[in-house]
Amino acid sequence: MTTLAPQTVALQPPAHIAIIMDGNGRWAAGHGLPRVAGHQRGAEAVRRTVRGCVELGVEYLTLYAFSSENWKRPANEVSDLMSLLRLYLRRELRELSSNGVRLHVIGERDRLDDDIKKLIVEAEETTRHNDRLHMTVALNYGGRREITAAVRHIAHEVAAGRLDPEQISEETIEDSLATVGIPDPDMIIRTSGERRLSNFLLWQSAYAEFVFIPTLWPDFGREDLEAAIEEFHRRERRYGGRVG
Ligand code: FPP
Repeated sequence: MTTLAPQTVALQPPAHIAIIMDGNGRWAAGHGLPRVAGHQRGAEAVRRTVRGCVELGVEYLTLYAFSSENWKRPANEVSDLMSLLRLYLRRELRELSSNGVRLHVIGERDRLDDDIKKLIVEAEETTRHNDRLHMTVALNYGGRREITAAVRHIAHEVAAGRLDPEQISEETIEDSLATVGIPDPDMIIRTSGERRLSNFLLWQSAYAEFVFIPTLWPDFGREDLEAAIEEFHRRERRYGGRVG
């Protein structure tokens, strides 16, 4: 177990970084290995990234671990991903706790195995007093489903007479999303050269800076994180120039 000290860096990181971790399969193929090896190396990249964010002083990190569409993958790959998640929740809990990481999981839990649901509740409970880094894992998550669930919830409130439709505001919707209490991401990174949002944080990404990098997720390291932060600052400076 490693306890991390804050590091002095040149650039103040954005408060909330969200990442679409892509390229595990291509990494494995490129190394002549089965896909599961790419996911295993991907889980190590998650560890490095969490450490990097803690050290750099990022306040919120959101990771897209499994989308609601990922169930369409072959059953053995789905099962490998779930096993990795299980392992991560079991092995990392102590380190997350001791480094002040608070873990949240967003997404629909009903389809997950009971033991995973239990591990999630335990991890959320154990880390609930931490506030150095809020780490959110999106698991069986889809942005459209999240918005649909929010609309359904609001419609129930209206039908029950607890909410006047005229009073529905952006805040009403935000308060009904899975990310309630978590600020919108300032920057969304997608690895592997793909340039899509793939149903991730559709509402929350309204003002996010998108940073697409060619690195495959298993190779993602501290330099990539710092380079993305530098890119974020270059864009901020341009924006300031235009309005100033
Ligand atoms: C995309 O690569 C990655 C995923 C679908 C899963 C991400 C999961 C992990 C990094 C491991 C476990 C996560 C945690 C939080 C411990 P891909 O398989 O779509 O790659 P490809 O596009 O090259 O085929």
